[in-house]
Amino acid sequence: MFKKIRYRLLLSCLAVFVSLLGIFAIAVRITFTRSLSKQITDKLTAIGQGAAVNVEFEKGHLTVESDFRPQDLVAHHQTLQWFDSQGNLITQQGKTVLNLPLLPNQMVQIQTGKVPIQAVTVPIIASDNGELVGYVRVSQSLEEFDETLEKLDWGLGGGIIITLVLSGISGILLTRQVMKPIEESFQRLKQFTADASHELRSPLMAIKINAELPLQYPEEIGPKDAEKFQAIASATNQMTRLTEDLLFLARTDQVPNGNLDILNLTSILENLVLLYKPQAEVKQINLISQLIENLYLIGDSVQLTRLFCNLIENALYYTPLGGIIEIKTTRVGSHIYVNVQDTGVGIAPDHIQKVFERFWRADQSRSYWSGGSGLGLAIAQAIAQNHGGLISVTSQLGVGSCFTVRLPAS
Ligand SMILES: Nc1ncnc2c1ncn2[C@@H]1O[C@H](COP(=O)(O)OP(=O)(O)OP(=O)(O)O)[C@@H](O)[C@H]1O
Ligand SMILES: [Mg+2]
Repeated sequence: MFKKIRYRLLLSCLAVFVSLLGIFAIAVRITFTRSLSKQITDKLTAIGQGAAVNVEFEKGHLTVESDFRPQDLVAHHQTLQWFDSQGNLITQQGKTVLNLPLLPNQMVQIQTGKVPIQAVTVPIIASDNGELVGYVRVSQSLEEFDETLEKLDWGLGGGIIITLVLSGISGILLTRQVMKPIEESFQRLKQFTADASHELRSPLMAIKINAELPLQYPEEIGPKDAEKFQAIASATNQMTRLTEDLLFLARTDQVPNGNLDILNLTSILENLVLLYKPQAEVKQINLISQLIENLYLIGDSVQLTRLFCNLIENALYYTPLGGIIEIKTTRVGSHIYVNVQDTGVGIAPDHIQKVFERFWRADQSRSYWSGGSGLGLAIAQAIAQNHGGLISVTSQLGVGSCFTVRLPAS
């Protein structure tokens, strides 16, 4: 149980970490991409403005000054293109292949493709009359930009993985530390329950013996007193059962599978059917069984007997006169299924999750003395889990219930 809690705690911690790191990485990437692309645009604009100054406009013709040769253009995969005011290409320097048409209204253009290219267009204004005479378009391959981004992605990804591994390790240590005192106090509580119920056994036994003693000589006590002693005796019986149940529940997790044996489940169930036949007959209930021969499993026979006793007792108790109780076994793969089905009062849908809780009973008003304590199914479930199995229930109010125990076959 604590392992599960610890596991869940760790998982939720990691989930929070993953989402925080994810948000962080996305924010870093967006900011970085923005500022890097702004840097490129600024640089290209500056080059474009430089190139726009180095043109001459004569007799309606643009000529690029021949001495304008930016040495490092090629090295940086940059290309310069001059256009006249109609958008016709006049000349070009650099070798980047840019196929996009000139769009004077759009300052920044991006050409997608195998090697993406970014282009910035700058208008050329004649210095004498301030007239628009053409455009310079500077473009640069975004290869380097992509490479930088890729490096950033690897860095971020690696960082996140390392952080997660480290936080996973520290999470395991932390949850262990946090859970330790809780586990210890739970253990102490269980020990206390076990001790208290154990200590209650002998005084209860004493009360029971002393209450039953006068009942053997009814003529010495009046009928009124006999009734009282009877009440004391039966209350003591109930309390003895309750303390036994509590003791059992407190101990089940501590000693997993006390005495393991290879058991014949079929014969255990057959014996139980024989045992409960008389009780069923008193209530005119038809107790039928449909058992597969020789179903073997490894387990504790006392515990398993108790599990099925609890189920059958419930079925008998919660089924009205003239009902049917059927005990059926099936084998699917490596699992044995035991169904205990009744035509009883059934369990309401919103109660079905609660029946396995300790001390839970559907009819809380019924006096504690008349029925059980609500521990029967909790014990049955603990036993099934101890054997690596499960109990489940399906039920319909007023129609009946079916408890299914799944156990691993040997
Ligand atoms: N076969 C059934 N049909 C209808 N209701 C059931 C059936 N089995 C269990 N229940 C419901 O589940 C509750 C819990 O069952 P559980 O066996 O744990 O306790 P109990 O029978 O009341 O007492 P105990 O078994 O400790 O003597 C019961 O009080 C009852 O309301
Ligand atoms: Mg019961």
